[in-house]
Amino acid sequence: MIRARIIGCGAFLPDNIVTNDDLAKKVDTSDEWIRERTGIRQRHIARDGETTSDLAVAAGRAALADAGIDAGELDMVICATTTPDESFPATATIVQARLGMSRGAAFDVQAVCSGFIYGLALADSLIRTGAARTILLIGAETMSRLLDWTDRSTCVLFGDGAGAVVLQAHEGTGGNADQGVLNAKLFSDGRLHDMLYTDGGVSKTQTAGKLKMQGKEVFKHAVTNIAAAIQASLDDAGLTVDQIAWFVPHQANQRILDGTARKLNIDPSRVVSTVALHGNTSAASVPLALCTAVRDGRIKRGDLVLLEAMGGGFTWGAALIRW
Ligand code: UT7
Repeated sequence: MIRARIIGCGAFLPDNIVTNDDLAKKVDTSDEWIRERTGIRQRHIARDGETTSDLAVAAGRAALADAGIDAGELDMVICATTTPDESFPATATIVQARLGMSRGAAFDVQAVCSGFIYGLALADSLIRTGAARTILLIGAETMSRLLDWTDRSTCVLFGDGAGAVVLQAHEGTGGNADQGVLNAKLFSDGRLHDMLYTDGGVSKTQTAGKLKMQGKEVFKHAVTNIAAAIQASLDDAGLTVDQIAWFVPHQANQRILDGTARKLNIDPSRVVSTVALHGNTSAASVPLALCTAVRDGRIKRGDLVLLEAMGGGFTWGAALIRW
């Protein structure tokens, strides 16, 4: 059986750091409130003219270097983003050209904060069916462009960034001992649109709109849905929480990470948290956290790793990987 193995990862954050104190000069908020309610200490904000594809290319190059392969060996580039450079073409095609890749296919996936999990499920399917052998999957966002910078309840939560992985076909046995993606579980419920959306779009208003969120409601659904997605992934593999070495959650809010861990009896020391350093970077947050824990030596070859996310739509999901 063919498995999609992650052979490299990379990350990129814009150099412009905005602290909670910086934000307190613009809106009625404080470092204390933001830290207590979210765990966020700072976020990286793209400079004027710095686009999602700039961040995606940097993360993509880092992932290719880590994998030790050239862009010419890629069959596909998938970019998970809600903040494309342009309404069309797909940001992935801009990345494809900038990486010097002249063959294969490139396209975007739009599932907001769940985008990386959706992209991973897709990449895994494409590799397992033989449609592609090597795929660069990037989660890249400039969420700062969608924020209402006068709305303190949302503008303090998000940041910009990109994370990427290279997936490649490898022969496996079909069991849980295989390296690579073991399963991916995707969910959505479009009835919950009004809890997290933008009040504009190409077809509706001919503008990108601004992010609107009912924070408390999103919070409640997040803990419930993420816990259910993790359980679905574990059940599918016939595993229990104790057998997972590392949980790599979507980095939205430390309290959501803690609440989910409590609900499922997950040891908090096995949950990778980077939210303090970059806030919610939407589709980029899972690969940013994954890459951090791989680079600092926490995640080692052979470890079972469970990724999860939830975002606008609502969309949510989880993916189980043997690193
Ligand atoms: O991928 C999913 C993306 N979304 C999320 O992860 C968001 C999930 N939700 C949350 O993280 C939390 O609901 C928030 C962090 C957004 C808000 O925390 P909360 O504990 O639910 O606070 P709240 O909305 O109940 O607001 C409490 C108070 C309110 O004031 P009053 O009405 O009690 O006087 C808010 O106006 O805090 C006020 N507030 C703020 N105060 C200082 C809201 N935002 C701020 C702020 N600074 N930035």
